[in-house]
Amino acid sequence: MKENAEQKSGHVTTRRLLDMKQNGEKIAVLTGYDYTIARILDRAGIDVILVGDSASNVFSGHTTTLPITVDEMIYHARAVVKGVQSATSRAMVVVDMPFMSYQLSEEEALRNAGRIMKEHECDAVKMEGGSSIAATVRRITDAGIPVMGHLGLMPQSIYKYGSYKVRAQEGAEAEELMKDARLLEESGAFAVVVEKIPSALAGEIARSLTIPVIGIGAGVECDGQVLVINDMLGLNREFHPRFVRQYADLNTIIEDAVGQYLEDVRSGDFPSPEESY
Ligand code: KIV
Repeated sequence: MKENAEQKSGHVTTRRLLDMKQNGEKIAVLTGYDYTIARILDRAGIDVILVGDSASNVFSGHTTTLPITVDEMIYHARAVVKGVQSATSRAMVVVDMPFMSYQLSEEEALRNAGRIMKEHECDAVKMEGGSSIAATVRRITDAGIPVMGHLGLMPQSIYKYGSYKVRAQEGAEAEELMKDARLLEESGAFAVVVEKIPSALAGEIARSLTIPVIGIGAGVECDGQVLVINDMLGLNREFHPRFVRQYADLNTIIEDAVGQYLEDVRSGDFPSPEESY
């Protein structure tokens, strides 16, 4: 069915991402958490929509990604998949496996990855970790579920790190990260996200792997880039990390629009006769 979709509409697949890397075409990824935004992203031509567990922060208002559940991820994923179901849709949908949905055992991980795939027909799942999850990645990919890895700053381990600072700045951690990236590729991952690591290291990883390396705060040498949609649209005034380029100021646009609406309602200017029956 996905093959038909690819032939008909150019739906992005794991194969397509690999071809893009081989052809030197950069891969553009954004997060998405609902139907309306997913439709806009897909129509704009985005390659991959990541239903990130950052939904925990930007959608639900938690301070970390830890509280979000498998059921909540499925709720967001279902809405996003509905947004990319037209005949001309092309965006691939990747869904984050939330904290503690894949760490307990391979069986549990496979069951949860299976639920995420089955309950809304997304294209792939994403998991954080290197050597600690390699066997699980193998198990899940062997079951036919594509897995995207995530290395560097891994927000699900924030209490272990104690801060959101740049990772792998010194030799031992950089070497470990390179090893983990290779291990994820060997274990069957189709792509890997690297978050908040030095550009030179990200470039080295991208050159040494066959699979695409998607960066966030990891410089231009990656095979593609990912940003959290709320950050790049300027929906959060309080969050301005260096790696986010803000493409719009929706916070101000929404505030101004709501301010105008308040004025119009209070003054009796809205609704006009033309806006009434
Ligand atoms: O959850 C998320 O949004 C992510 C991206 C930051 C890569 O994992």
